[in-house]
Amino acid sequence: MTAQLTILSEAGFAIDEELGSDANAREALLDRAMGEGRKRKSSEKLRRGRLPSAGLAFVARSGSGAVTGSVRLWDVACGEKSLLLLGPLAVEPSASGQGIGSALMRHAMAQAAELGHSAIILVGDAPYYARFGFSAEKTGGVLMPGPVERDRLLGCELLDGHLDDASGLLIARGRRADRRQSSSDAMSPHISSGLVRVA
Ligand SMILES: CC(C)(COP(=O)(O)OP(=O)(O)OC[C@H]1O[C@@H](n2cnc3c(N)ncnc32)[C@H](O)[C@@H]1OP(=O)(O)O)[C@@H](O)C(=O)NCCC(=O)NCCS
Repeated sequence: MTAQLTILSEAGFAIDEELGSDANAREALLDRAMGEGRKRKSSEKLRRGRLPSAGLAFVARSGSGAVTGSVRLWDVACGEKSLLLLGPLAVEPSASGQGIGSALMRHAMAQAAELGHSAIILVGDAPYYARFGFSAEKTGGVLMPGPVERDRLLGCELLDGHLDDASGLLIARGRRADRRQSSSDAMSPHISSGLVRVA
């Protein structure tokens, strides 16, 4: 059983494990923040039909409990190396600039490290993700299963050296989603057992 962790910030939002009941709100938020084209991204090929990595799907909630942000990480492999693919990261447009995206990133990265993962890759804007330690320095040999702008394919090691010599095509390694769930509706199957609040 996985403990649910909630961090309440002074800005009035909380970071929480994603629950099954959050799926519709999360999908609507992703559509608003990223547009319908999000489902045509190369990264989506690594997520389709899969569940997020165990314990690595998070939402931000407003004081009323509404979902205002989302981030998930997915199990992938590059040759012999096991990696996490992060994304999408999205924040409700009306709530941007309040630190929600940063809080989701820092929490997701900390949890990934705690769970023993060694590196995270993502496709995104380097000027944003650099602040969390991501760069294209070691992703030059990594291939996505579709078009990608090389300077947007970024990596961050949780274990020093894990991305050294990373090369090859990324392939999905995640647990398969229930066929009744669409890929994007796949949710983290955690049971919340408690609530921890950090002021
Ligand atoms: C990118 C996104 C997640 C940022 O969330 P957020 O909650 O607004 O971010 P934070 O409040 O933590 O950080 C805001 C800071 O990031 C900067 N920032 C936001 N988007 C940026 C980008 N694309 N490039 C560079 N900097 C960016 C802001 O200028 C601000 O800078 P400051 O701290 O110097 O003022 C959000 O804008 C979003 O959902 N965008 C649409 C979806 C998307 O592009 N997702 C990322 C790709 S998967």
